[in-house]
Amino acid sequence: MRAIAVINQKGGVGKTTISINLASAMANRGYRTLLVDMDPQSHCAVGLAVPEEQIEHSMFDVMIGQARGEPLRITEILWKISERFELAPSTIDLATFETQTTGQPDRENALRNILAQIRNEFDYVIIDCPPSVGLLTFNALRAATDVVVPVEMGYFSLHGLSKQLDTLNALSQQCPERVNVMVLASMYDIRTKMAREILAELRKHFSSRMFKTVINFNTKLKEAASLGQPISEYDPASKGFKDFLALADELVGSDTQTHKAELVNTLQTRLKSISASADELLASIKEPKMSIEPEQPRTTLEQKLADFYGARQVNGSVVFSALYPRAQAVHIAGDFNGWKPEQTPLEKVGDNGNWQIKMPLDKGTYRYRLVVDGQWQQDPYNEMTEMNPFGDFNSILNVQ
Ligand SMILES: Nc1ncnc2c1ncn2[C@@H]1O[C@H](COP(=O)(O)OP(=O)(O)O)[C@@H](O)[C@H]1O
Ligand SMILES: [Mg+2]
Repeated sequence: MRAIAVINQKGGVGKTTISINLASAMANRGYRTLLVDMDPQSHCAVGLAVPEEQIEHSMFDVMIGQARGEPLRITEILWKISERFELAPSTIDLATFETQTTGQPDRENALRNILAQIRNEFDYVIIDCPPSVGLLTFNALRAATDVVVPVEMGYFSLHGLSKQLDTLNALSQQCPERVNVMVLASMYDIRTKMAREILAELRKHFSSRMFKTVINFNTKLKEAASLGQPISEYDPASKGFKDFLALADELVGSDTQTHKAELVNTLQTRLKSISASADELLASIKEPKMSIEPEQPRTTLEQKLADFYGARQVNGSVVFSALYPRAQAVHIAGDFNGWKPEQTPLEKVGDNGNWQIKMPLDKGTYRYRLVVDGQWQQDPYNEMTEMNPFGDFNSILNVQ
């Protein structure tokens, strides 16, 4: 059995999308596959239409049971998604695992011990991790034979990359095991010159530590998730599904290679060199140029909108700007104001229906939505989104 952990402490880089669809592709290829959701936000259940209110036992119960020496077998909590594809869902209480197991010996090995019990029942276990590096991610790291680090193909995502890898590295100091760590290009938009340049640079620097397969940006993947289906069911003819079959095949094929590599690479040294590569890579890429290829030109109007609306950083602040000519009131709600829109109205600027607000925001990743005349919606000018537990999309903003 191989256990593949999908880890990146940043939200919105495609972890859950990759976990769900890689698991489904593995099952499609004939492997007995288990998807383990280690994120208390339980996005795997949302993305696979498993009704949250009907989840009686979750990874929370299995993990707590294991840490306290009152084990509940993981097979007791599984939901069958399709032939050979099972989900071990999480629930929000998994967030309390760390505080509830304080002082329990071996709590960082809970997942590893849980998976050891089903070693012969599954060929592949895919572990979706939370966007943080706490005890849950550490459990995944210790249980994994392979780690997939999705990297979203944008200049700003590279900025955080070496820091993220450093953190993974720090965690791995306490991981005696040998693990195969690989970087995966995610949400790749071939139409943008910058994405193509970044991919070429990534390949140069990460070489054999990077998957040949790239996960392209594909709106079908988003649609599939919002309907609670893996892409294999929603649109098996899509490019999205082909990408995940290719990823599955590459992982399966890397089996023997991996074992050879494991002899010389501990997780720690591997991560160190990946992290150094990320720094070098960043230094080698100059200003981000958000140019769109001439073969797929945007209309002048579209370009104007892309230039002037959305969220952008200006001298330590972020300006949110949106076009709503008929709106009476536009507010914003996000983790920066406790999701209370009434506190933060946008101001109407000029007569064209442009609404704006400038907010000082510290470095970090934020989720937000716009509230237009009482209607909650994602920011139509921000392509970065993430599904929330209500099945809607939050807009994502990375302040650097
Ligand atoms: N390859 C892709 N193409 C298009 N949209 C994607 C792709 N990967 C992820 N998304 C969308 O981006 C958002 C964040 O992805 P998600 O998998 O939830 O990231 P994470 O689990 O890292 O937070 C979601 O709305 C998802 O549908
Ligand atoms: Mg996720």
